This record gives sequence, C-alpha cells and structure tokens, in this order.
Amino acid sequence: MLKRVLPFVLCVVLVLTLAACSPAEEPVAPEAPAAAPEEPAPAPEEPAAVEEPAAPALSGDSLRGGLLYDKWWTPLGLDAPEEDQALWATQDTNTRSGADTWRCKECHGWDYKGVDGAYGDSSHTTGFVGVIQMAGGDANDVLAAMQGATNADHDFSTVMDEQALIDISLFISEEIMDYAEVIDAEKAAIGGDLGVGEDLYQESCADCHGPEGTAIDFKANVTKTETISAIANGNPWEYYHKMRFGQPTEADMPPAIDAGWSVEEQTSVLAYGQTLPNTNPATQGGLLYDKWWKAMGADEPTGDQPLWATQSTNERSGTDTWRCKECHGWDYRGIEGAYSDSSHTTGFIGSIGAADMSAEEIVGWLDGTSNADHDFSAYMDEAAMDMFVAFFQTNAIDQTLYVNDDKTVNGDVATGQEFYQAGCARCHGDDGQEINFGDDDNPKYLGDVARDNPWETLHKAANGQPAEGMPGGLNLGWSWQDLADTLAYTLTLGE
Ligand code: HEC
Ligand code: HEC
Ligand code: HEC
Ligand code: HEC
Repeated sequence: MLKRVLPFVLCVVLVLTLAACSPAEEPVAPEAPAAAPEEPAPAPEEPAAVEEPAAPALSGDSLRGGLLYDKWWTPLGLDAPEEDQALWATQDTNTRSGADTWRCKECHGWDYKGVDGAYGDSSHTTGFVGVIQMAGGDANDVLAAMQGATNADHDFSTVMDEQALIDISLFISEEIMDYAEVIDAEKAAIGGDLGVGEDLYQESCADCHGPEGTAIDFKANVTKTETISAIANGNPWEYYHKMRFGQPTEADMPPAIDAGWSVEEQTSVLAYGQTLPNTNPATQGGLLYDKWWKAMGADEPTGDQPLWATQSTNERSGTDTWRCKECHGWDYRGIEGAYSDSSHTTGFIGSIGAADMSAEEIVGWLDGTSNADHDFSAYMDEAAMDMFVAFFQTNAIDQTLYVNDDKTVNGDVATGQEFYQAGCARCHGDDGQEINFGDDDNPKYLGDVARDNPWETLHKAANGQPAEGMPGGLNLGWSWQDLADTLAYTLTLGE
C-alpha cells in the first residue's frame, strides 16, 4: 500500500512543482542581467577561464536553510532584531512588530504561499506574495531577491552572512513542497498511515514531546496549553515544516528529511500528531498546586489567604500564603508530613484525603462550599478546578512509598541516571549545575534542592515547574518508580 501510494504522491508533487515554477521564471529573468557580477554570460563550458565561473551552482545546506526560514537569528547566534523590517510599513493588517516582522514565514507563510495560502485570511495576513513559485527554479534568483535585487527593502545581506542566504536560497529552490498535496482544506492530513505515524513518532519524537505529546507546552501556561496536537490540528503547515527541517530554538530536534523519511511517512506522522490529546489535566493540576497564578499567567493574589490568620507558626505572608503547597505540603500530608516541624509548619491538614473524593467533593473544597474561607473561585474557572480534580485523583500519591522521613529515597541510582540523562540533563546539565536556583554567592543546584526537599523534587519531577517549559516525567511516560529512581540519582549530584 505504502509503496504504491508513494510514487504517485511524488509524481503529483513534481508535476505541481514544475507547473508552479514555470510562470515565475519569466518575470524574474529580465531583471537578472541588471544584477551584473552575479550572472555574466551563460558559459558553463569554460571552467578553465581565469574569471569567476558564471552563476555557479550554489552549494550549502538546504535543510539549515529551512531552519533559517523561521527565527534565523537563533541558529545564527545573533540577537533578535528590534526594529520592524522595512517592508512591514507597507502593510497594516498584521499588527505584530519587532523581531516577528523579520521571520520569512511571517510574510511568506508556513505553506510558502503568502496571501494565496493560509495567511490570506488570518491575524497573520500581510497581503505579501509567497515564495513557492520559486520552487524548482534557480537558487541564484532567490539569492538575488534576498539581496535586494528586486526591492532594496528586501535586502537581508545586511543582517546575515552570505552562507546563510545561500542556504535559504537552496531551501526554497530545492526543498519546499506544495502542502496542498498532503493537507486538505479542513487541515486534515490526506492519507498517511496511523500505524506508521505512531511508530515513527514514538521512535523519534516521544523522548522529548512524550508518548502522548503533552510533555512540552509551547506556551508554558495551563490556560493556553499548546502541545504537538494543537500545532498538528491548528497549523498543520507549521507542523509539517518543523517536522521536516527542525525547530530553530531547539538544536536537537531531528529534521525528518535528514532522517530520510518519505513524504508518505511524514504525512503519517502529521496524521498521528492530529490524533494526540492537547493536554494532560492531571499534571496541569500539579502545576497549579504550587504558584497557580504563575501557571495560569494571572495576576498575583493580594493580601493573606483568609485561613492564614487561624495559625501563627508559619511567619510568611502575602502570595506564599495562597500556594496550596504552603498549607498542605509538597508531600500532600500537611501537619502529618514534612511540614510538621519546620518554618513551614501551619498545623493544617494535608490534601491527600482528596485522592479518595469525588470530583464534586473536591470542587466543593475549591469553590468555598465546604469552607467559605477556602474559596478560590474568584481566581479559578471550572477548567482549572477540573485540573485539580484530575491531579488529586491521579497524581497526588502517597510519597512515603518512595521518600523516607530521613530524606533517603527508595530508588535505584543507576537506573535513575539513565532517566536523568534522557529527561533532565538537557536543561539541568550532566552534573545538575546548569541551572542555579540560588545566586552567584550562594549557588543552589538541583542536587541541593533534592537533598533539601526530596518531596518538592519528586512533585516537580513528576508534574513540571509552573510557567517553564519543563516537562514533567509523568508526561514523558515515566512510572512513579522511574521518578523515584531519578530522584535517587539526583540526590547524588554535586555531593
Ligand atoms: C516584512 C516582510 C518580508 C519578510 C520578513 C521577508 N520577505 Fe520576502 N518578500 C516580501 C515582499 C513584499 C516581496 C515582494 C517584493 C517585491 O518584489 O517588491 C518578497 C519577495 C521575496 C522573494 C521573491 C519572490 C518572487 O516571486 O520574486 C523571495 C525569494 C523572498 N521574498 C524570500 C524571502 C526570504 C527567504 C525571507 C527570510 C530571510 C524573506 N523573504 C523575508 C516580504 C518579506
Ligand atoms: C530533542 C528533543 C526533541 C525531539 C526529539 C523533537 N522535538 Fe519537537 N520540539 C522540541 C522543543 C524543545 C520544542 C520547543 C522549542 C521552543 O519552545 O521554542 C519543539 C517544538 C516543536 C514544534 C513547534 C511548536 C511551536 O509552536 O513552535 C513542533 C511542531 C515539533 N516540535 C514537532 C516535533 C516532531 C514531529 C518531532 C519528531 C519528528 C519532534 N518535534 C522531535 C524538542 C524536540
Ligand atoms: C492558607 C492555607 C491553605 C491554602 C493556601 C490552601 N488550603 Fe486547602 N485547606 C486548608 C485548611 C485549613 C483545610 C481544612 C479546612 C476545614 O476543615 O474546614 C483545607 C482543606 C482542603 C481540602 C480537603 C482535605 C480533606 O481531607 O478534607 C482540600 C482538597 C484542599 N484543602 C485543597 C487545596 C488546594 C487545591 C489548594 C490550592 C488551590 C488549597 N487547598 C490551598 C488550608 C489551605
Ligand atoms: C526544558 C528544560 C528543563 C528540563 C528538561 C527539566 N527542567 Fe527542571 N527546571 C527547568 C527550569 C527553567 C526551572 C526553573 C528555573 C528557575 O526557577 O530559576 C526548573 C526547575 C526545576 C526544579 C525546581 C527547583 C526549585 O528550587 O524551584 C526541580 C526540582 C527540577 N527542575 C527538576 C527537574 C527534573 C528532575 C527534571 C527531569 C525529569 C527536569 N527538571 C527537567 C528546566 C528544565
């Protein structure tokens, strides 16, 4: 089946590509001679001449070019531009400003069709042309356009080096395809085999995005969650482009073209991505258990939580008094657990009792039904309360199974090292010292945090960190024992 469809798809793509580029050559050609030194006489049969070869075939990395079509400054190690791109002022429908106005995709579209494609009618509409008409054409023509030959305001040689321009030119002339062949008018993948898509996804994407696709929230905000599924369904052209060429802000994301995936296989991975859920409410509830206002991108609560006045042992005040964890503990056991004897002691009960409650009972605790002073409904909507329900019913486990009172952990260090390397090291570093939670004088690294508060570390390793793109291990498909092993290894970091 796959073998029979593939040549057909490729043929259609080829035919369309050829059809699309032939008309473009006419308008471009007459202007080319004006750009003198670039294109002297067409004499490829004189390589021996002392003069520079005429319009040499450009050589470079077309896949890198695809990466540069987006936020080119990141892979190039440059600062993001601050002013608007000069051509931006010639339109007023797209109200973005600054760095965004310099992304090729912002003016020419993820489908490379500009005003004739998906950006013909959206908040991204500029009215600008696409670049797909140059697919299959001479990369030198693309290069000339990017150097301002046809419009001086379209000169990108002022902001990036020549090799970058060449790589992008090669990308446009050699790599871009017409996504109408693989994505229909309703944004659904055309064809594609879900089984093939699942296998490839689990092999190549799940380590970072998780088996369910929920590990990385690109918005890092539980009320706006955007994971693989949201992009696959909402902007399948962007998904396709990034799958093929990678993500400029993530050097390790592997481009599918480089991996040799056929168009049929790529479409299968899009089709599979469209079946994934966008969110995991249980880990989102875990994020809310901490500084929920940060996790939601909302304003900080003011004053003390009303119940705070009923205790006097914990001397904090203000926003801290609103964190669920401040009253109920990282181990969900309140006065029965680690907060029974510390500066955090309040004497309040734990929240772990909610693990056995119905959804209505849990919501009753959050909307003030059970205790009018325990009312969070001014801050949280129904969706947020549902996240708490999912969290308590699924993720608020009895941590005493894994963490002992003396802060030792029932986990295997060697196994934990493997999990740590796979899921944590890319940000926290092999030695756990890439992120400093303290300051220069008093550095505090992951190992210190774990030794100081293994319960907090287990909670965060499982659910993530509010407002950061930190994936919770539960979204990476890890079991609680996997998490305990990771914690056991983390305890050894920087000892
Ligand atoms: C601010 C919007 C904007 C940005 C950003 C932008 N372009 Fe353009 N581009 C245009 C406009 C407008 C034209 C048509 C210019 C003209 O010919 O007057 C154009 C034309 C082109 C053409 C020629 C198309 C043709 O058929 O002649 C190519 C190729 C091109 N752009 C590539 C790129 C690449 C690659 C990038 C990223 C490095 C980029 N553009 C960034 C607005 C933009
Ligand atoms: C090495 C880890 C890693 C792997 C493997 C990986 N990704 Fe990503 N991907 C990321 C990170 C990190 C981001 C977000 C970067 C950011 O927030 O700027 C991302 C972003 C994306 C985005 C863009 C979302 C957006 O709005 O910008 C898409 C689409 C995507 N990945 C698809 C895939 C697919 C499909 C695969 C498998 C072929 C894959 N990724 C494999 C790490 C990875
Ligand atoms: C200022 C301290 C404080 C904060 C902050 C707080 N709680 Fe409570 N919580 C309490 C107290 C005290 C009780 C017991 C009240 C009672 O018995 O009427 C309680 C009871 C509960 C219960 C019922 C537990 C049981 O076994 O009956 C749940 C569930 C709960 N809280 C969840 C939360 C969640 C979720 C948050 C964060 C949104 C939160 N709490 C924030 C103090 C707090
Ligand atoms: C995508 C990058 C990234 C990955 C992967 C990642 N983290 Fe984090 N982590 C962060 C960031 C960013 C912070 C917050 C830094 C800050 O608050 O200064 C953080 C914070 C934490 C904290 C909280 C420390 C504190 O005192 O608030 C813990 C614990 C933690 N990470 C553990 C882990 C573990 C365990 C893993 C692997 C399962 C992991 N992280 C994977 C980026 C990451």
